[in-house]
Amino acid sequence: MTDTLARRNLTGAQVGIPPRHIDFRFSQAQQRYFFFDQNPLASLVFVVFSGIFPPGERFFMESVRNFRDRITDPVLKAQVSGFMGQEALHGREHDRLNDFFRERGFDVDLPARYVRFGLRQLARFSPRLQLACTTQMEHFTAHLAEQWLTDKALAASSDPEMLKLWYWHALEELEHKSVAYDVFDLIGGTQRERKQAGWLVGFFIGLPVVASWVHLLVKEGQLFRFKENRRGLKALFGRGALISEVLRHMPTFWRRKFHPSQQETQALEASWRERLFGQNGDLVDVHRNPKAAA
Ligand SMILES: [Fe+2]
Ligand SMILES: [Fe+2]
Repeated sequence: MTDTLARRNLTGAQVGIPPRHIDFRFSQAQQRYFFFDQNPLASLVFVVFSGIFPPGERFFMESVRNFRDRITDPVLKAQVSGFMGQEALHGREHDRLNDFFRERGFDVDLPARYVRFGLRQLARFSPRLQLACTTQMEHFTAHLAEQWLTDKALAASSDPEMLKLWYWHALEELEHKSVAYDVFDLIGGTQRERKQAGWLVGFFIGLPVVASWVHLLVKEGQLFRFKENRRGLKALFGRGALISEVLRHMPTFWRRKFHPSQQETQALEASWRERLFGQNGDLVDVHRNPKAAA
């Protein structure tokens, strides 16, 4: 009986998805600079990501929330609340990073506007398709997260303080990577809907994101710096580079027997949990709820 009650009240942390309150503070003294390899094009893609995360993650949460009352399994319920908590906190900390960018003259609101337009179009489709779109975007994010955590060029050439936020976000994306999909599975989501979602996300999210990136380059007066831009493109899209590796894994989403857990990241997550939150971990001093997240 006690055991049943305990299962009914599981928390996100108890099922491996702890919402961690992290209190990132960016140095006010930090001057504006291109923080990824001193390269405008590559740095601006991070401004774009950070700008689109808060509205994007709100959409993810909403599309899962639409089906929350159908979930009876206590473990999945707890995973969903862990997912909601983690995404909400990602949005909050990216808002803070976006303030930092804004204060330094990066127009981080521009990609947010583009993506909000795209999300409004997705919101016209059925709640089932919206959830399918979320699973597609979570698949992208999970592979992006794996690259963030393993890419040596990113680690060697980026701002070390900013990296901590990306690493925390990436770890949690891997921890909750199956949750939206498991809800989609529960409502009988199909391969056909996943394929439709692929087109919808490509058209309404992918295109606006790329357009906002180019627009930012134009605003920054960087579009015609061909040599620098070639260097940035190579850093992101070259062989084995960050974004190329993510894109390489996109087609697995449309397989008949797809599940996010096929992306094996448990060992990677464990090593990063230790590195960030273990004894003397990089984020221990800014982690505000270590007991609840334990
Ligand atoms: Fe997130
Ligand atoms: Fe996520």
